[in-house]
Amino acid sequence: MNVFATADDLRHQVTSWTQSNSKIAFVPTMGNLHAGHLSLVRAARQYCDKVIVSIFVNPLQFGADEDLAGYPRTPEADRVLLEAEDVDVLFLPGKKEIYPGEPDQQILIEVPVLDNILEGKNRPGHFRGVATVVRRLFDLVHPDVAIFGKKDYQQLLVIRRMVTELGLQVRIEGLETVRETDGLAMSSRNQYLSPDERLLAPAIYQTLKESATLLADGAETVAQVTGRGREMLEKKGFTVDYLAVCRQNDLAPLVTPIEPDEKALVILIAARLGTTRLLDNLELNLA
Ligand code: PAJ
Repeated sequence: MNVFATADDLRHQVTSWTQSNSKIAFVPTMGNLHAGHLSLVRAARQYCDKVIVSIFVNPLQFGADEDLAGYPRTPEADRVLLEAEDVDVLFLPGKKEIYPGEPDQQILIEVPVLDNILEGKNRPGHFRGVATVVRRLFDLVHPDVAIFGKKDYQQLLVIRRMVTELGLQVRIEGLETVRETDGLAMSSRNQYLSPDERLLAPAIYQTLKESATLLADGAETVAQVTGRGREMLEKKGFTVDYLAVCRQNDLAPLVTPIEPDEKALVILIAARLGTTRLLDNLELNLA
């Protein structure tokens, strides 16, 4: 595995692969890798001859009140994991490689509407930061395929919309969420849960599954189902930022009753346990 820290070194490698008609699959990450990330890396290998993984903790997607400095950074452990997955290139850029210009003159990518609901509403500017860094990384990596997790459902939609509207020549693949055996979605943030909180945390996935069953039954309205789920989580000590039932393709919230043409749904939850904010979702395709 080659490890490149500069845009020039990466470009050099990418150019030579492109000239020899190799196809490139790309997995962007912020590091502190776990089995969820590694599932994307393994899938990448199935799509293309060459696999590039990036690790860059992107300051632009952190809010002023979010702990950028405290984000877990484990580059050595990550490198060992990626080496074992037979990754061709690990791109580990510094900030200047990604944002060479003046910070106050940074060109930004906005993805209206989608960046302003659910996660975007709770984290203003977050998706602008994500879209901007992913656009920049795509420009450097020139991937044929880029792979993202459905764990960050809204992020995946933001990227898809950016690619469509800017006409970028990259295929976006969204992969299923990898979970712990008790259902908790794997996340770098899980390590911040206390032992007691860790025992409670799978309630998020349980709530998603129960809500999906109730919606599929059709006996209750969307408001009843989300109200019940919210109540259950709050009883256990969660602070629920949102529990929403939306259309898969644009995350428009469902109004009750469910319209006959609205069959492809996704239930999304963001909830806090103590100081840890957990995020999960479940797709639901009504017959
Ligand atoms: P990060 O949180 O490191 O996640 C990198 C990729 O791994 C994302 O596509 C995310 O959805 C996926 N992922 C995380 N947990 C997962 C799980 N349990 N199962 C499957 N996939 C999972 O998302 C980011 O970084 C950043 O926003 C980034 C896209 C790199 C831009 O900075």
